[in-house]
Amino acid sequence: MNKWILISLLLMSWMPTQKIDLVQDNAKFADKQMRFMLQQLDGSKDSFPHSIYPEGKLKLVDIYGWTSGFFPGSLWLTYELNKKDTFLLREAKEWTKKLEPIKDLTSNHDIGFMMYCSYGNAYRITKNEAYKNILIQAANSLCTRFNPKVGCIKSWDNAYTIGKKVYYQYPVIMDNMMNLELLCFASKVTHNPKYKEIAISHADKTLENNIRSDYSSFHVVNYDSLTGKPLFKVTHQGYANNSTWARGEAWGIYGFTMMYRETKQQRYLDAACNMANYFLNNKNLPKDKIPYWDFNISLLGYTPPIHYDTSKVSLFKRDASSAAVVCSALFELYGFTKQEHYYKDAVAILQSLSSPKYRNNEGKNGFLLNHSVGNFPGGYDIDVPLCYADYYFLEALNRYQQLNKKG
Ligand code: GLY
Repeated sequence: MNKWILISLLLMSWMPTQKIDLVQDNAKFADKQMRFMLQQLDGSKDSFPHSIYPEGKLKLVDIYGWTSGFFPGSLWLTYELNKKDTFLLREAKEWTKKLEPIKDLTSNHDIGFMMYCSYGNAYRITKNEAYKNILIQAANSLCTRFNPKVGCIKSWDNAYTIGKKVYYQYPVIMDNMMNLELLCFASKVTHNPKYKEIAISHADKTLENNIRSDYSSFHVVNYDSLTGKPLFKVTHQGYANNSTWARGEAWGIYGFTMMYRETKQQRYLDAACNMANYFLNNKNLPKDKIPYWDFNISLLGYTPPIHYDTSKVSLFKRDASSAAVVCSALFELYGFTKQEHYYKDAVAILQSLSSPKYRNNEGKNGFLLNHSVGNFPGGYDIDVPLCYADYYFLEALNRYQQLNKKG
């Protein structure tokens, strides 16, 4: 047999095994870590894993913490990855149920994260109508934060810029793109277009005001709620007001890909591709494709609004959570564009996250991934596991598996 045919045959037989191994190995690992986490949580009635404290103790949030939906969501995704294990199903249902009161939350925009990652997966997997009705109520609560004059959902109430310098009148942050999926869902199941109209208006304003011409992004745009005009653009969790916070960019890539799925509007696909290209082709993205928490750390022309004592703190920390969000989004973006490089980059990120450098040790604290940054300027959740990194890692694995099932 010709040498090249033999090599090709060997490669062909090796590649699918690689795919299966990456998914199966992580599925088994996630199953063990979820069970370990559940053991640790036994007795903590309404406390959801968020991260760990520097001394290694679990950091928990109650149902009102913005990250409360990720652990129930991770249970659903691990259940799905592990060929539907009944123990995980029972736990997923129980942890989801705890969040029911959140359906009436109107005090911030995070209800989309909290409810769609938990109840959204619950409904997608079980088709139980009770989950659907709770999600519709959650969408109604989110809509109360929409101001037609601004054209956006308000992210936070009573908040100030970094260092408590200036009050935000009507802040709209990149992260808010993620909450629009709940609204698109509500329109689909109620046949009432109002939810999706709000989502479209919000996405268009984000495109107009949070995204720069090179498709990098401002974290926060503060609007005048009376005129609807942007007052100023700053960062809250990034390095500098004119820098690009890695997770903000990640939320944008994911959010615009999702908005394209829901509306088929070309402008959203273009935005998603251009933001993905900014992220993936960035000269400050390390070779393993796991970004630092900001793309412009310590660069000339980028001045942080607060002082960092760099003799005490290294600014160069990776953020696995941004990588996990982008990885999941890229699998979907590949499905829409059929551009191979998005698929290859998603697999490369998945491989990096699955390597010992980022993947946690089995039996350690119950989280899946290390090395994420929650809020560097805020001085917390720096270089730690984070429940949302785990959630999007699991979602990426599920999407990778689905894509390979379809051939
Ligand atoms: N507010 C969501 C985040 O920290 O990314």
